[in-house]
Amino acid sequence: MTNAAPRWAWVDGMLLPAEDRHISAFDRGLQLGDGVFETLRAAGGWVTELAEHTARLRGSADGLAIELPADLATRLANGINDLLAAEGLDGPDGDASVRITVTRGVWMSRGLLPRADEDLTATIVIQAWPVTAAPGTTPAHGITAVSSRVRRDPGNPLATLKTTSRADYVYAKLEARRAGADDALFFTVDGHLSEATSANVFLVRRAADGAMELATPSLACAILAGTTRSWLLRWATGVGLRPYEGELTRDDLAAANEVFLTASVAGVVPVVRLDGQPVGDGQPGPWTLQARADREAFITRA
Ligand SMILES: Cc1ncc(COP(=O)(O)O)c(C=O)c1O
Repeated sequence: MTNAAPRWAWVDGMLLPAEDRHISAFDRGLQLGDGVFETLRAAGGWVTELAEHTARLRGSADGLAIELPADLATRLANGINDLLAAEGLDGPDGDASVRITVTRGVWMSRGLLPRADEDLTATIVIQAWPVTAAPGTTPAHGITAVSSRVRRDPGNPLATLKTTSRADYVYAKLEARRAGADDALFFTVDGHLSEATSANVFLVRRAADGAMELATPSLACAILAGTTRSWLLRWATGVGLRPYEGELTRDDLAAANEVFLTASVAGVVPVVRLDGQPVGDGQPGPWTLQARADREAFITRA
């Protein structure tokens, strides 16, 4: 998928031309990555799982004690609608990637944390980009991934929050780029599979008792609780795959019939090579393609 340039940004309730300057140099998000965010898909003007994303945004903000307005859900819903309309992405053919960013706000002092009695007003920004397939490619053909050297610590209280401090993830993407791959997979400090740089990971495999299983790292493996991940775990039972959440190893990955990533905008993306080795027969597998088609139908309400 690729992103055309947006024309507008929604900043604290106002639609502003995208090319203007919007945010104070003293904003804590800019200075310290002291913020949280969400990325959502809006197809045909319908925002997929807005309530789930708003709840997760609240959870991430709570984790950093960032105060949010009581009417956040209404503000976001209205803001997204106004922005999609301004960008012309609200019609039946509209397909948008929507990003909500919330920072602790502007602070004129310096240091890591304002005093407890200092009231900051959170900065809230919404952006939208049209979702279109990158020229000559389609995620349905699959991507390649490498293992990142960055390790995730399941004991780290920040591991499951969607904060704007993303240097680890940027570093892992650089590792992928340098290896000629599309993405990187994180492992935990104790060697278990965690997630990708902006997606959860699933394997399709045959279990010891012969049943076909849809396996994914549990929430204890330093992952983001993905909205697409939850949907896929419910989907699995309906299509005859046994869902499994637990600890997975490199050997489990290497032995899997199929591997795919899940995220709100990209949907279900097959992984066809891992650390230079083909996954299964090196082609997107049938379960992956079915998951991709079914999730896409849900998003587009086809
Ligand atoms: C690190 C990480 N894991 C997983 C996900 C998938 O979450 P969701 O399905 O809610 O988009 C994302 C999404 O951006 C992510 O950044």
